[in-house]
Amino acid sequence: MPAERTQIWKIDPVDPEPAIIARAAEVIRSGGLVAFPTETVYGLGADGLNPVAIAGIYTAKGRPSRNPIILHVACVHDALPLVKTWTPTARLLAEHFWPGPLTIVLPRSERVPDIVTAGGPTVAIRCPTHPIAQSLIRAAGVPIAAPSANRSSELSPTHPEHVLRGLVGRIDVLLDGGPTTAGIESTVIDLSGALPRLLRPGPIPPSAIEALIGPLNRQAKSVDDEALPSPGMLERHYAPWTPLECHASFKRVVNRFGKLMGEGKSVGLLAFGITENVDDRTILISMPDEPARYAAELYCVLHDLDDRGLDRILVQLPPDTDEWLAVRDRLLRASAVVSDDS
Ligand code: TXA
Ligand code: MG
Repeated sequence: MPAERTQIWKIDPVDPEPAIIARAAEVIRSGGLVAFPTETVYGLGADGLNPVAIAGIYTAKGRPSRNPIILHVACVHDALPLVKTWTPTARLLAEHFWPGPLTIVLPRSERVPDIVTAGGPTVAIRCPTHPIAQSLIRAAGVPIAAPSANRSSELSPTHPEHVLRGLVGRIDVLLDGGPTTAGIESTVIDLSGALPRLLRPGPIPPSAIEALIGPLNRQAKSVDDEALPSPGMLERHYAPWTPLECHASFKRVVNRFGKLMGEGKSVGLLAFGITENVDDRTILISMPDEPARYAAELYCVLHDLDDRGLDRILVQLPPDTDEWLAVRDRLLRASAVVSDDS
């Protein structure tokens, strides 16, 4: 892949320069690929109504063709033509959480190309709040199809450098708007069935959604290929290259750390309330004890540790509570080994 294909355009994340947005929108409209920041992670965008452009997303990511892609819109009004019916529940959710890190799945309309939904009967729609994402969608004048801007199954990008690591030479433009804030991917809610279902936990906690629309089905379906309700449920996803182990208690993770050190291994340790330290063989990182701040840092910490080529990453799991659901979900997916004290 010739790296020259990818142009990097710096852009103000708070007040994006209209001239840069106009050029990026033109790339989208002419069928190109533009990576751009959202409040969650960077997205890899293409014209959501152009099947050829969307095929380019799958190629650039090495993404399995059965994994559908989210359409990004600038406002509720632009979501309406993409679905069969904009239901009262969808309206309520959008009123409260859009623009923001919530993706809504509904039966699709004829307008949505098959390739967006991987041939399925539903479409996922999200209205991001990030000023760059908002103005890019408005300027393009089409919904923007965008998965996270990483190679398939690797960690999502929260910094422009993370995007380049996986996709340099594979995309036309990177809008470099600095780091994203939420740090993990949007909450995905499926409204196409009898009971609203949580397909992927994210920055908006399920309790906030349940307070508004009543109980959610939180049960993930079995994860075999075709029946996959949301391939975000695939087991190895969001994973670093370095083998990562999750341990349920501080005692457990410290014991394991001692053992690996004894074997002469190089280890990165993410835990709560520890003294940070970096030496030749170990990197100790004290993670925030508040879920949103933990989420904001998580992928960046994992990308950095991955760069060091350590033998192992050890993680002390946060508590098994609702507020930590999304962070635990991403840690467990990233891990090769999970151990608790039982
Ligand atoms: O925060 C986010 O959602 C980011 C930013 C860029 O918007 N996007 C993102 O896209 O994380 P992606 O493709 O990496 O993850 C989207 C998830 C995948 O697990 C996909 O399978 C699922 O949403 N999905 C997409 N369309 C779906 C549909 N029609 N039904 C069920 N799940 C769907
Ligand atoms: Mg992704």
